[in-house]
Amino acid sequence: MKRPTLVLLAGVVALLAGCTDTPSVNKGDPLRGETVHKVCLDCHGTELYASPQRKIKTLKSLRSEVARWGDYYSPAFTAQDDEDVVAYLNSAFYKFR
Ligand code: HEC
Repeated sequence: MKRPTLVLLAGVVALLAGCTDTPSVNKGDPLRGETVHKVCLDCHGTELYASPQRKIKTLKSLRSEVARWGDYYSPAFTAQDDEDVVAYLNSAFYKFR
């Protein structure tokens, strides 16, 4: 009687774990984002983000720009990496609301 109960329990735990962390991406963490962003500095410094000529004008376009550059890498940035880099760039430079 003991074993099937354990197996069932393990299944339920696995299912619950899967439900909680698979589809959702946590809110961006700017500190982690700053670290993740270091590889982006191969091509440009952060002055680009603070320039009066910067092209990104909305949070939406910042997200898609970060996702575009994140895909440039192999392996590509994960959704969480993108989210964290957006949080970092937005809190340090863009300051969109
Ligand atoms: C291969 C070189 C290269 C790499 C690597 C790169 N970038 Fe860029 N990035 C550019 C160039 C060139 C521009 C300016 C031209 C343009 O807008 O496409 C730019 C522009 C941007 C802009 C727009 C700035 C603005 O407001 O005008 C953002 C945001 C950006 N990059 C983020 C990133 C992030 C985040 C990464 C790392 C995931 C990254 N870049 C990696 C070359 C690069």
